[in-house]
Amino acid sequence: MQGPLPFAVLISGRGSNMLALAEAAADGRIGGRVTAVISDRADAAGLAAARRCGLATRVVDPAPGVDRAVFGRTLTEAIEQSGAGLVALAGFMRILDAAFVRRWQGRLLNIHPALLPAYRGLHTHRRVLEAGERMHGCTVHFVTEELDAGPAIIQGRLAVDSGDTETSLSARVQRLEHIIYPRAVGWFAAGRLCWRDGMAWLDGRPLANPVIEDAQ
Ligand code: GRF
Repeated sequence: MQGPLPFAVLISGRGSNMLALAEAAADGRIGGRVTAVISDRADAAGLAAARRCGLATRVVDPAPGVDRAVFGRTLTEAIEQSGAGLVALAGFMRILDAAFVRRWQGRLLNIHPALLPAYRGLHTHRRVLEAGERMHGCTVHFVTEELDAGPAIIQGRLAVDSGDTETSLSARVQRLEHIIYPRAVGWFAAGRLCWRDGMAWLDGRPLANPVIEDAQ
């Protein structure tokens, strides 16, 4: 039996998903181990939180004017040095270059705060409220070169309440994020989830649709 899967988490902000993943790994809910928490911002609150948990941290700060490919190579070096075999993007606010995505293809996950393919991009909660949507949620997906367009693995889904604001919706979606991201990483670590022929496979079958986790 192999040991826990080493994985790196890339953050730019608060790092609540990173903490959810780290806690799930630490208490044995998933067969993984965080090798490094890497941020493009030295002031990311999640870095301090990671250090308090005893996790190794690293800042890969793109100097002004550095092109995306150079930044991507530096990032790859940092991930490789940590020994990670999986990369979890968790609120990492930089667009990654094609070479980086190809390097980690099939081992690069992201969490997005919407029910993809709806609401790719930024400000999803605001746009969902403005459009009067009844359902909203979050998606864990494999990352491909096209932003927020890789194969979806699992979605957390909730009903939008008439009294919801951007803040309340964001908090409720995040609670679901903290459930579905560890679940997806756990599947990957257990060898149940993989990338094959441009698709997400779970338990030996291609996922035509993501697994759905409805809010309780
Ligand atoms: C989450 O809402 C995630 O969906 C998006 O960025 C946010 C990161 O939040 N990609 P946190 O830093 O994990 O708290």
